[in-house]
Amino acid sequence: MRILIIGEGGRESALAAKLQDDPRITKMFFANGNATTDVIGKNVHLSEIKELRDFAIKEKIDLTIVGPEAPLVAGLKDEFKKHDLKVFGPAHKVASLEGSKAFSKKFMQTYDIKTAKAEVFESYNEAKEYVQTQQYPLVIKASGLAGGKGVVICDTLEEAEATIHDFMIRRIFGDAGIRLVIEEYLEGFEASIIAFSNGEKLFPCVAAKDYKKAGNGDTGPNTGGMGCVAPSPEFTQAHYEDFEKNIMRPTLDGLKAEGLGFKGIIFFGLMVTKNGTYLLEYNMRFGDPETQVLMALMENNLLDVIQDCMDGKEVDLKFKDEKAVCLVMCSGGYPRNIELGFEIVGEDKLKYSKLLYAGAIRKGDKVVSNGGRVLNIVATGATYEDARNKVYEDASHVHFDYGFYREDIGKF
Ligand code: AMP
Ligand code: GLY
Repeated sequence: MRILIIGEGGRESALAAKLQDDPRITKMFFANGNATTDVIGKNVHLSEIKELRDFAIKEKIDLTIVGPEAPLVAGLKDEFKKHDLKVFGPAHKVASLEGSKAFSKKFMQTYDIKTAKAEVFESYNEAKEYVQTQQYPLVIKASGLAGGKGVVICDTLEEAEATIHDFMIRRIFGDAGIRLVIEEYLEGFEASIIAFSNGEKLFPCVAAKDYKKAGNGDTGPNTGGMGCVAPSPEFTQAHYEDFEKNIMRPTLDGLKAEGLGFKGIIFFGLMVTKNGTYLLEYNMRFGDPETQVLMALMENNLLDVIQDCMDGKEVDLKFKDEKAVCLVMCSGGYPRNIELGFEIVGEDKLKYSKLLYAGAIRKGDKVVSNGGRVLNIVATGATYEDARNKVYEDASHVHFDYGFYREDIGKF
């Protein structure tokens, strides 16, 4: 079997590592891949959907797995389907649950899915009038894809007006900001639940906790994720039951009612407040760094799970009764200005963990940094402390100039 994985982060490295020893897989390609996938299979430089399609036809790819959201929202599945190419991931319309926050908020409202109260705006003046009547903090979201930067928590009316101006008039995110979702601020802790879909049913993984802020103690700017643990230590069985009843089940009902069944991943971004579990967003793909910890705990063969979903079969997900911790090492300055191209050393010194490269590529016999989030160090253990000690001990041997990481991942 020949597999193409699209993406180049730690998530794709984790998927590749999980599939690596499957004897049914004869070749894995990665577009564009990184320094881990380069060793597991072959990195190919392709970006446009047409290039990916032509490659998949030429190389007789049996299955394509899509990491990031952009190709799905841009209709990769729709294009591949025309050529009988199999893709694990949703078509454009379903991917709009991630690609359009206006669409997903309307979907949540229609199907009584527990979410923050919100209004959608297409008019600058109406949005400006509305924020004058609201309580603060208030959350303003660009409806379209904005690389994870399109959500602003506004503490004051002035900030809200400036944000609306930035999004709708200055168009700092282009067309992504011509429509806004303005919603109530929810206070609590976040959790990520990633579920496999076989077109009919959803099969959730254990909840994970993503560390979004750049600095220790959840300080500093938002990032793509500085670390992750699974299972989430805060997300209890009662929270799960609330999620199942008020979010997952009505989501499935809505998908069916709208004819949006798909074979792929649905990721629930949750906020747990004192009033229960709320849905902040859907992502229609694997999370990063959630995938790194989930793959470390998953006992199932990943190819079996994906194939069973593709065939509409039931899946019985099993996770080790352990804790997993993933630490992300970043380029100095991330998530703002970064410099690339620093040599990474120390991989050979790891004793207890797995190193999964993200923004890092091979240049000759060296590995050099090539992105904001450079690499992931992942370990499992009987306790969070056990897994965390392994990760930090190994991290102390890995080095590249100006690299940094949070000191408090998995510390409770
Ligand atoms: P989203 O892309 O909608 O998940 O938003 C990105 C991040 O913004 C979330 O992970 C939360 O940290 C934060 N956020 C989004 N919506 C809200 C809300 N209604 N209340 C508080 N924080 C939010
Ligand atoms: N970790 C959040 C995401 O993948 O969007």
